Amino acid sequence: MAHERVRQEFTRQAPHLEAAPAFRSSPVLDWLRSAAAAGPGDRLLDAGCGPGLVLAALAGDVREAVGLDLTEAMLHLAESNCRQAGHGNVRLECSPMEELPFDDASFDVVVSRLTLHHLEDPERALGEMARVLRPGGRLALADLAASEVAEEAALHDALETIRDPSHVRVLPTTAVRTALEAAGFAALARDHHAQPRDFDEWAAIVGDPARTDPLRVLLLALARAGIGAGIELHEEAGQPAFTHHWQLWRGRRA
Ligand SMILES: C[S@@+](CC[C@H](N)C(=O)[O-])C[C@H]1O[C@@H](n2cnc3c(N)ncnc32)[C@H](O)[C@@H]1O
Repeated sequence: MAHERVRQEFTRQAPHLEAAPAFRSSPVLDWLRSAAAAGPGDRLLDAGCGPGLVLAALAGDVREAVGLDLTEAMLHLAESNCRQAGHGNVRLECSPMEELPFDDASFDVVVSRLTLHHLEDPERALGEMARVLRPGGRLALADLAASEVAEEAALHDALETIRDPSHVRVLPTTAVRTALEAAGFAALARDHHAQPRDFDEWAAIVGDPARTDPLRVLLLALARAGIGAGIELHEEAGQPAFTHHWQLWRGRRA
């Protein structure tokens, strides 16, 4: 059911998300490349690769790059983006992150961007990422960060879910650290990225005014009432605006 919702939602979002400046030129792409620290002998997995923007940015650094996603429409875009970038070393797999179809210790590097908050069982997916990494292999994981204040985090999740029903839960950094340690990652280090969001740009990615027009009204009312939802919700020129906080984790398979 959760997987079906992801497939439906990301089949509709695929072309919008692929074109979105927030995905194409994010400083998080540079961070992922540097944290992956991949070399020409490495085999790299991008778990939840979407339209392959991360994969296309990193495939040139490695021997083989594998992109995995649940959504076929995303994998078609990933194939085309990697081909256009001239990479002949990319393989794509349509599978869930919670059950990776790869051998133990078969990758040197695993990266994943903006996927954890779509998973019903993020701990299981992190366990799978650890399983397929060789001991000492590197993880670079980037996702939104929730407020540590539970009421703010719950409101943030509610707003994200109205926009995109495949949203499950943004985790606070404390929960992600615990899950990473339990999965078997060590030498953990966390960076932070703050991404100001303009409502129209954020709404355009889902391409469904039936959801985002009422959401605009709701966000504006919350902003005017001084409710920040852990994302510094505020009003700019009569429109709602906010900041997405990102947690950027690097670590090693113990
Ligand atoms: C917000 S997009 C991010 C795409 C890509 N990582 C990027 O940052 O450009 C989330 C992606 O995760 C995929 N996804 C969500 N749940 C998944 C799961 N359980 N297994 C595999 N892929 C999943 C979706 O199909 C979608 O392509």
